Formats: sequence, C-alpha cells, structure tokens
Amino acid sequence: MTAAEPVTGEPAPGRRPARSTTRTTTPTATPLDLAARIADPETRIVVCCGAGGVGKTTTSAALALAAAEAGRTVVVLTIDPARRLAQSLGLEELDNEPRRVEVPEADGELHAMMLDMKRTFDDIVAAHSTPERAEQILANPFYQSLSSSFAGTQEYMAMEKLGQLRASDQWDLIIVDTPPSRSALDFLDAPNKMSRFLDGTMIRLLMAPSRAGFRFASAGFMLFSRIVSKILGGQLLRDISAFVSALDTMFGGFRERATATYELLRRPGTWFVVVATPEPDALREASYFVDRLSSEGMPLAGLVLNRTHPPATTALSATRAEGAAEEVQESRADGADLAAAALRVHAERMQLATREQHLADRFTSAHPEVAVRTVPAAAGDVHDLDGLRVMGEALTGPDADTPTGTPRTRVLPARRG
Ligand SMILES: Nc1ncnc2c1ncn2[C@@H]1O[C@H](COP(=O)(O)OP(=O)(O)OP(=O)(O)O)[C@@H](O)[C@H]1O
Ligand SMILES: [Mg+2]
Repeated sequence: MTAAEPVTGEPAPGRRPARSTTRTTTPTATPLDLAARIADPETRIVVCCGAGGVGKTTTSAALALAAAEAGRTVVVLTIDPARRLAQSLGLEELDNEPRRVEVPEADGELHAMMLDMKRTFDDIVAAHSTPERAEQILANPFYQSLSSSFAGTQEYMAMEKLGQLRASDQWDLIIVDTPPSRSALDFLDAPNKMSRFLDGTMIRLLMAPSRAGFRFASAGFMLFSRIVSKILGGQLLRDISAFVSALDTMFGGFRERATATYELLRRPGTWFVVVATPEPDALREASYFVDRLSSEGMPLAGLVLNRTHPPATTALSATRAEGAAEEVQESRADGADLAAAALRVHAERMQLATREQHLADRFTSAHPEVAVRTVPAAAGDVHDLDGLRVMGEALTGPDADTPTGTPRTRVLPARRG
C-alpha cells in the first residue's frame, strides 16, 4: 500500500464512523450439506449431540431414515426414545440388538436399536471375566446400582455399544443418538469419568482400610469413611469392596476400550452433528460442545438448529402487520376481527423468528466456521415414519427449497444493504 491510498474503514477526521461497520455485520453461516454427508460412503459414523430435549433422538432417527432411502445400510442407536417414536421404529422391547424397520421403497436398509445400558454393562462383565467371577459381580448390589444409575454410565455404555456395532462391520453407517444428559459434554467426558471412578482413590481406600493406601489417608478421610460407613452401613462397604476387587481384572479393559472408542470418534469417517433449539441455553451448550470438539480434534459436520419458527411469508414485517391489524379492526368491516387476529398472529411469528434469527446470528458470529441447517418445528410431535421423513427432508433437502425461498441456513432472509 502506498501512502497516498486511503485507509479502508478509517473515518474521515472529525467524523464519527457510520453505524454499520464491518465489525458489526454478522457473518453468513455456511450451508450444512447433510445429504452429501450421509450419502458419502466414507461416512461411517454420525453422532448427534446437544443439550437435553433439543431433538437429538428425533434428528438421529430422521437422518437414519434419509440415509436408508439414499441406499445405505444404516443402524440408528437410539437412547430413551419417546414411546411413540420407539413404537413406530418397532422398538417396543429393549433387546439391545438392532432390528430391521420396514421402509417401503427404500434402496437401503434401516435398522434401529434402543440402548439397554444395564444389558450392555452385563455383557461386558460376562465377556471379560470367568463365569464364576461374572456371576459374583452381577449379583453384587453395588454393581446393580452402578450399572443402572451411575451418572455417566449411559454415556459410557453408548460408546461401548458404538464400538461393538463398528467392530461388527455389518453397517455402512451407524447413527448414534446421545443420552439426555445435563450437558452435551458428558458424552465426551463419560469414558474418562468412568475409568477414574473405577480406579478412584476413594473407592480403593474404602475397599481396603487395612491396606497400605490407608496409611496415607488423612484424619479427614478417616472421619469421612466412618461417616460413610455409618450412613451406608457396613454391608454396603463390603459390597463395594467385593465389587471393586472383582472388577480389578477389568480395569485395564475399561480404559483400553474407552480409549479405542475415543480414537474411533476422531478418525476420518466420523461426523458430529450438534443439535440445538433457538434458545440461549441450548445454543450456549452447543457453543461449548463445538469448542470442545475442536480442541479434541473431532470432526464437526455442523449445527442443526431444530424447531425454528419461520413465518408463512416474509413479505410483511411485524410492524406493518400490527399497523394493518389496527386499521382493519377500526374499519369494523365484516370479518375484521378475524383478519386482525390473523395479522397479529403473523406479527408475533415474525417477532419470534426475528429473536430466533438473532440467536442464530450470535452463534455464527462466535463460530463463523460452523455450517448451519435450520429445521422448522412440526405442528405436533415427530413420532412416526411420515414425520421422520418430513424432518429428514428439512435436514437434507436443497438449501433454498423452502416455501418462502429463505435459505435453510436461516430463519428469516438476510437483510439487504
Ligand atoms: N422439528 C421438530 N418439530 C416438532 N417436534 C419436534 C421436532 N424435533 C423434535 N421434536 C419433539 O421434541 C421432543 C423432544 O425430542 P427428542 O426426544 O428427539 O429430544 P432429545 O434431544 O433426544 O431429548 P433428550 O435429551 O430427553 O434425549 C419430542 O417429543 C419430539 O417429537
Ligand atoms: Mg433423546
């Protein structure tokens, strides 16, 4: 640059900068091409993550159906699907194995399974110990409560099951739903938490008060241990102790498999899809998750912004609709009340869509590299194959193919100028 050239963006002396500088302009989100991702033979695993209740299970099932219709042999590993969705996927019983779902005219195959966390845990125990030892562990009350309720067990078992499905090599594509955790990060943290828990110092100290480790225990810990023993009872402590010594032989196995599955998730061929609704909490959660995936080197396909509320037309702004409603009502013409009500509904919908777009813009400003796809809220729950097909279309259809022509990266069209 020569000295004579103007410096772009710098205001003329004495004048304030114009309001719309490039700094405040929201970057445009890249379209998320899920159709290409799921049809690509290189894609072998898709993991749907996100905060609680945002539509992870529904998105997983809809993507699996779309992939089967695109000719792939797909299994979807669902976790706690809503009852009606489970029924329409033929998953009334928990059998912990994939079952074929009849999809007329699909070129590929759709199989679905519902994770049975306890069965998966039991199978691991059986596969990694002698029959007598397995029996001893399975009968242990502490094992029974851990295998069905320990926070993180479900996440860990989902990973285990994924490892098993991948090892069977029977599937072109495995779509993995993730548990209804408090935090989306729990899914990535679970294997570590689990192995830390299993060889945790506390448990070791609890199980072996007479062993060397105890000598290092502080007075505080001894007090703690006495209280625990008082509250939980000596029998439980003995159960824990028996459980941990029985699991001793499996410690290595747990950690090894957790590491192997973690590596699997980082390999090419895996894609994470982060699901969120256009609400601050869900998007904050999605943000954490996106950052975490990137720091772990895990491949992110993009963000699905689910249950958005695009208006029926974008030609009429909220303000104009409000104004028109008032005018119509004042006219006292026949049907004026009804017309005014319809205009007000539209105004509300425009305001809602504006809020949703604003939240989406904030996300994109913070993560301009993340591709986005919006999925409108259906009128009711998505609980059958037809509903899944409609959602699948929204997830994988062409970017600009919407009733208002608004690209599917957005809720409202971008403002011009
Ligand atoms: N695009 C949509 N339109 C209408 N309803 C939807 C949509 N997506 C999901 N739902 C409904 O929202 C509810 C929650 O969806 P889903 O069970 O998939 O969420 P989830 O993230 O798996 O929840 P959890 O964290 O509890 O596992 C379900 O009743 C589902 O039918
Ligand atoms: Mg779910």
